[in-house]
Amino acid sequence: MKIAVIGGDGTGPEVVAEGLKVLAAVAKFEDFSYEATEFDWGGDRLLKTGAALPDDALDQLRQFDAILLGAVGHPGVPPGILERKLLLDLRFGLDQYINLRPVKLFPGVETPLKDKGPEDIDFVVVRENTEDMYCGAGGFMHKGTPHEVATQTAIYTRHGCERCIRYAFEYTQRRNNPKGKRLTLVAKTNVLTTGHDLWWRAFNEVAADYPDVETDYNHVDACCMWIVKNPEYYDVIVTTNMFGDIITDLSGIIQGGMGVAAGGNLNPTPGGVSMFEPMGGSDPKYTGTGKINPIATINAVSMLLNHLGQETAAERVMSAIMHVTDTKMKSQSAGKMGYSTTEVGDLVCEAL
Ligand code: IPM
Ligand code: MG
Repeated sequence: MKIAVIGGDGTGPEVVAEGLKVLAAVAKFEDFSYEATEFDWGGDRLLKTGAALPDDALDQLRQFDAILLGAVGHPGVPPGILERKLLLDLRFGLDQYINLRPVKLFPGVETPLKDKGPEDIDFVVVRENTEDMYCGAGGFMHKGTPHEVATQTAIYTRHGCERCIRYAFEYTQRRNNPKGKRLTLVAKTNVLTTGHDLWWRAFNEVAADYPDVETDYNHVDACCMWIVKNPEYYDVIVTTNMFGDIITDLSGIIQGGMGVAAGGNLNPTPGGVSMFEPMGGSDPKYTGTGKINPIATINAVSMLLNHLGQETAAERVMSAIMHVTDTKMKSQSAGKMGYSTTEVGDLVCEAL
């Protein structure tokens, strides 16, 4: 396995170091080998050289089996630049058309939802990752005048939504939830009567190929209420890029927050290079303090292993994480874990 590692900005490199520590430990136990190559891409590089990434970044990354990314966001760089240059350009350039966000409340982790526990919070969001308002299509007219016009266009293609929906059906089949296989489309067909009509039709047509999967539909606003009231209802959700961005933060907090939640940017086609990341940001104020929670990154490492066919190793990491959250950590919040960043990494290694 060849793994490209981009620590990125702020606390990214610190949490990635713990992810790599756990990877090294599990590789020994499970007897597999890998090569990790680190890249110093991100905000510091942008400030020094004028570019967050080299011109041939995508070609370089295509030589790897997967990417582990820490975080993007640098206090010295205005918002929007690194997000586009680093994160979004990689997602788009490597055609990582699925953003997979498992929402699982680990044992011992606190959720803000009253009376809900690990048996209630266990679902997966499949977010489309290359279209919608994220395409950057739009512009200004009469900028800076009282008559300014700004457009930001949501682009949806049949190819783009169909491949995402198909992946979601297949994922639901594979997940094989003992409570029943159910895929919920989340969109806004009552207002977005063109773009989301395309999604609605594609969803219903693709559904015919997966008769064993129960299908359901939620408007996105209603979904936000149901995720809070009845998270146990959900098995797999498939949704558009922008709505997926929003509901995965809502889902992230009910699984214990940004210290825990991880995601995969997947290009599931053979030879595709996928990228795994903790969901939290770079949290620059915590850089170097040892306060940040590495569990999300270790969780991302487990997803990476699973994606590359090392299922046993992935499960082993996952069980170790759950042992540590359940029996060791006081909290999943930065600075309140009862341990430092590296100590949490060590605990997971011990639990392996
Ligand atoms: C996420 C993040 C990104 C997104 C930002 C950092 C561009 O919020 O991965 O969910 O909007 O996709
Ligand atoms: Mg987001």
